[in-house]
Amino acid sequence: MSPARILATLGMACISLPTFAQSPAPNYFVANCFNCHGTEGRGHSTIPALAGLSKTYIIEQMNAFKAGTRQATLMHQLSKGYTDDEIAIAAAYFAAQKK
Ligand code: HEC
Repeated sequence: MSPARILATLGMACISLPTFAQSPAPNYFVANCFNCHGTEGRGHSTIPALAGLSKTYIIEQMNAFKAGTRQATLMHQLSKGYTDDEIAIAAAYFAAQKK
């Protein structure tokens, strides 16, 4: 392989790598969670991080907030604004983020 060809191949690898490393763009409503839970759910001041929590755990907590079985200052209200499908999408997104 000529040096030019090697460079070109390396260049391609550099361009295509980030697409593998990145998680898919979150749905618009998932970004709402970032306001409080930090970018990509990494936590913000006293608000718990969501990144890396299990999908099942997040769904259970959202349902508990909705049902009022888990006490909350904000999430009991917020959780009611999201459908089961949206919660599942958000939960999958945060579960896929690194802690
Ligand atoms: C206005 C700020 C705010 C927004 C927006 C917000 N949250 Fe929260 N969230 C909180 C706070 C504060 C808590 C701690 C419980 C409480 O007091 O409500 C919390 C707790 C949680 C928990 C429990 C975490 C744990 O470790 O048990 C989950 C799950 C959660 N939020 C999911 C979400 C999702 C998903 C979204 C977006 C759809 C979201 N939150 C948007 C403020 C927010």
